Amino acid sequence: MRKMVAAFVTAVVCTLGALMVPAASSMAEEAQSAVEQGKAIAFDRKGGNCLACHMIATGDLPGNIGPPLVAMAQRFPDKAKLRAQIWDATAINPHSAMPPFGKNRILTEEQIDLVTEFIYVQ
Ligand code: HEC
Repeated sequence: MRKMVAAFVTAVVCTLGALMVPAASSMAEEAQSAVEQGKAIAFDRKGGNCLACHMIATGDLPGNIGPPLVAMAQRFPDKAKLRAQIWDATAINPHSAMPPFGKNRILTEEQIDLVTEFIYVQ
């Protein structure tokens, strides 16, 4: 009887393990694609156009009106604060030259989520 229980437990653990491995790798793929999509929006001159003002790694012809976007996870450990900066920079600095992308609906909420994922890993 004990052996049967042990065999059953092993079977359940193996099945769960087999189910979880693909789930974890597809989550990693999703995170990667969010970063890629966010990059496309951030670099699009008709989208975020972040390069007009910010140096961002791999971006061509950056402006320097805003600070270089580097070491973001260290400087913005709270991703929500980073998103808030992108959503409405004027809430943090009323004289900001940075367009309030969320407040003024320049980007959709979903686009801001994607851009945040991209900027966070810079
Ligand atoms: C017209 C210029 C301009 C554009 C376009 C712009 N920003 Fe900014 N950004 C600034 C300025 C200037 C600052 C400095 C803080 C301030 O004055 O509000 C800033 C600050 C930031 C910060 C905070 C950086 C820090 O070190 O504290 C982040 C993050 C940021 N911008 C992200 C973005 C993203 C993402 C985009 C594109 C979706 C973008 N910015 C587009 C001008 C701009």
